[in-house]
Amino acid sequence: MGKDLDPSKVRAARAAADLVESGMVVGLGTGSTAALMVQRLGERREQDGLKIIGVPTSVATAVLANHLHIPLRELDDISSLDMNLDGADEVDPQFRMIKGRGGALLREKIVACVAARRVTIITNDKRVDRLGNVPIPVEVSRVGLKHTERRLQRLGAETSIRPLPSGTLFLTDGGNAIIDCQFAEIADPEELDSRLQTVVGVFETGLFLGLCDLLVVGTEDGVEQFSSHERRNPGCGG
Ligand code: A5P
Repeated sequence: MGKDLDPSKVRAARAAADLVESGMVVGLGTGSTAALMVQRLGERREQDGLKIIGVPTSVATAVLANHLHIPLRELDDISSLDMNLDGADEVDPQFRMIKGRGGALLREKIVACVAARRVTIITNDKRVDRLGNVPIPVEVSRVGLKHTERRLQRLGAETSIRPLPSGTLFLTDGGNAIIDCQFAEIADPEELDSRLQTVVGVFETGLFLGLCDLLVVGTEDGVEQFSSHERRNPGCGG
């Protein structure tokens, strides 16, 4: 069975898509879980006449949504989003997340910051006591890439400039590079995020803090949902 057809992932993605109601403007995340969620929205559009407007977080998601005839808008053409649905790479008990393995973190964070309700869809293995088993993707300018990398190393990161499988530089939809930053320990994600954000050349980090209101988790037996009761001022600035 292919990775994308992990039954617990499919269950979680479908359950999350079923939270969407007709008339909503919906942020459409990126990655294999988000793709399953978008597929379910397409199914609901076709079978039940679900009427939504989607705001994609990547070119890949826009292509998929177009294929499923889900009407799309650019973020700047709408005033707010009713809901954002996206995957994550790790989530801790405070609903703090690492995202960006798919390389769409900047656009994902901008879209999440506009949404009234943020839904994160994961499988149970992505729940961790402490963030940091996976590297934090950091989206950076291509200009001065090696200098930015050295600055990130000085903050304690073991770094890797993300390549494409062909060996050439991976570029995001926005034409930026990604430096994956592995830290030995992340004791304070907020403090680390603040320090990473100060590095010249850094556009955004894959630490998503205060950006999950509902966690939808696919388990071996079914789907569990966890609400973050504390809606903090999210990591959007301002
Ligand atoms: C995309 O940039 C990422 O933030 C994804 O949402 C995240 O990596 C989860 O991806 P999967 O659903 O493919 O595991």
